[in-house]
Amino acid sequence: MKLAIINGPNLNLLGSREPGIYGTQTFESYYEELQIAFPQVSFQYFQSNIEGEIIDAIQKVGFDVDGILLNAAAYTHTSVGIGDCIKAIDAPVIEIHISNTFAREDFRHTSFITPAAKGVIVGLGMDGYRLGVESFIQQKKSS
Ligand code: DQA
Repeated sequence: MKLAIINGPNLNLLGSREPGIYGTQTFESYYEELQIAFPQVSFQYFQSNIEGEIIDAIQKVGFDVDGILLNAAAYTHTSVGIGDCIKAIDAPVIEIHISNTFAREDFRHTSFITPAAKGVIVGLGMDGYRLGVESFIQQKKSS
């Protein structure tokens, strides 16, 4: 099974960025753990702070992988382009947020990703990515 993880702006700073909200683990270290935990999955990982690069990355993997775990970070709340891109590809997308966006500022309650996503995992910390992987594996087993 092939899965892509795509992270948006400022998620390259996980580990040091607002640790009270996002924790102290870097994504690189978490990603290593994830790859060890799921040896049967072929992972691809991409992070960018640039909206168009995220769209390019989604288009690039979107007709190839079995699923995408997308944390579009701040672009979640602003990007019509990323929302449209998800509608244009074949691969199902699970939207991930580390923090509980609904317990934060009002502008974080809106998502341009959710209407196009297969599902959403919000507020469970980095573990949200693992839960997303589990969900894709389970869906494949039962299909
Ligand atoms: C985030 C939540 C967004 O509101 C925020 O802009 C982020 C990270 C999360 O994972 O909790 O950068 O997507």
